[in-house]
Amino acid sequence: MLVNQQIISTKFNNILINWNINKNINFFIFINYMLPKLTKKKKKLQKKAICVIHQNNNNVFGNIKFIQFNNKVKIMYEINGLSDGKHGFHIHNYGDLTDGCKSACAHFNPENKNHGGRNTEERHIGDLGNITSKNNLSKGVFYDKYISLDYKHKYCIIGRSIIIHEDEDDLGKGCNEESKKTGNAGSRLACGVIGITK
Ligand code: CU
Ligand code: ZN
Repeated sequence: MLVNQQIISTKFNNILINWNINKNINFFIFINYMLPKLTKKKKKLQKKAICVIHQNNNNVFGNIKFIQFNNKVKIMYEINGLSDGKHGFHIHNYGDLTDGCKSACAHFNPENKNHGGRNTEERHIGDLGNITSKNNLSKGVFYDKYISLDYKHKYCIIGRSIIIHEDEDDLGKGCNEESKKTGNAGSRLACGVIGITK
């Protein structure tokens, strides 16, 4: 009886050990299969873009970096050479700078709306408001929930351009007609094309 019990117990232990080994192998296979998929998915979401503002006759230069998150884009800018105060900061329709900043044409406006600010109900998708400069430097970070770095997205900004204006953007709250088009931001001081980066 005791011998029988021992045999049964050993058999049972074997099954248990085998089962545990199998479980570990299965877990190992699962981790090896899933981990690259998960990291790949994460990498796929990290889309980045950059706009370089080359030094021009107005002595304005710098760069603007973009990172795509799930439903917003982070914008990091560092612009040198602007006068103290606020300056209109927009995404314009084209990345065509053959005629300087002029050929970038109007604000990126796929919804055919009136001009506004980043946080107003009515706005062009390209309306990123103002950046502020002090002692020759304008540096900061903000987020926008409309623009996208995804080529398939209707509001994708890749291949378009950024323009920095001489004056403050009134965010569509001015009293003239121009306010609803350009925010009275004045002349185009500097511009650059938004390109893909790693
Ligand atoms: Cu503009
Ligand atoms: Zn606008």
